[in-house]
Amino acid sequence: MQEITVRVLENAPLCTGVCKMIFELPAPVEGIACGKFVNISTGDGAHLLRRPIAVCEHTESTVTICYQIKGSGTQALSRVRAGDTLSCVLPLGNGFWLDEGERRVALIGGGVGIFPMLSVLSDYAGKGKHFDTYFGFRTKAAVCMEGRAKALSETLTVVTDDGSYGQKTNAVAAFFADAASAQADVILACGPLPMLRALKEGLAERGMRTPCYVSLEERMGCGIGACLVCVCKKQGAHVRVCKDGPVFAIGEVEL
Ligand SMILES: Cc1cc2nc3c(=O)[nH]c(=O)nc-3n(C[C@H](O)[C@H](O)[C@H](O)COP(=O)(O)OP(=O)(O)OC[C@H]3O[C@@H](n4cnc5c(N)ncnc54)[C@H](O)[C@@H]3O)c2cc1C
Ligand code: FES
Repeated sequence: MQEITVRVLENAPLCTGVCKMIFELPAPVEGIACGKFVNISTGDGAHLLRRPIAVCEHTESTVTICYQIKGSGTQALSRVRAGDTLSCVLPLGNGFWLDEGERRVALIGGGVGIFPMLSVLSDYAGKGKHFDTYFGFRTKAAVCMEGRAKALSETLTVVTDDGSYGQKTNAVAAFFADAASAQADVILACGPLPMLRALKEGLAERGMRTPCYVSLEERMGCGIGACLVCVCKKQGAHVRVCKDGPVFAIGEVEL
């Protein structure tokens, strides 16, 4: 983990209310990988705390993040221009990983939870994995990164809550509708808590013992394990999502 100054190469709307930023690293940074996140300053000097955003894609010299404009911090971030510099702490968190034997992978992303799933797809592209990807969005205007996900997945199912694009359902239900044919060795997921709860309940109800890992996007303060704003419960003990996660086995963590 290191604190560096990065130069913004691109920062533009991706779809309604979501922006994509590509920034340049001054030198290669060890350990940037799928499911990890960055803590990035908002660029306006008014916000003391950096904002945690998942790595969406990365190369040796660049990192791409995609963020929803939610409150004043991400609003300020959306006003940053190409050529501006930002302070950034990275890489943070434990990230997703796939073992050798985990060949068939189900990826379930809801809303901005699709971005960590894209990081898995791009890290493992061409490494002999089979990806069945399920993305859920509120409505058609929120659908994004479909082309990229399609290019990197064996199958991609895109659904919306209101049925304005794809089937009217959510990503978890779409996954369960397909689970028998997908035959996943492992399930990775990220999205709002109700979505992750539905996934946990659905697995239990069906007696499915497929290993499943989820990334939690808990409210954060420091992002480096010091303030305890992000604690959640894992097997009865308090853990910090920023330092001990954000990726946890679904059976171990209280949602
Ligand atoms: C590990 C991780 C990865 C994330 N990845 C993404 C991503 O790829 N794309 C994306 O759109 N969003 C992501 N989020 C959520 C994003 O961090 C919040 O939406 C953002 O911090 C909101 O800041 P704000 O100032 O606009 O909102 P405000 O609500 O004004 O924020 C006030 C404070 O609360 C914190 N906060 C508010 N909501 C969240 C939240 N959901 N998670 C963490 N801190 C929060 C802010 O950091 C800030 O300190 C991620 C969160 C975490 C923890
Ligand atoms: S955000 Fe401070 S301990 Fe996790």
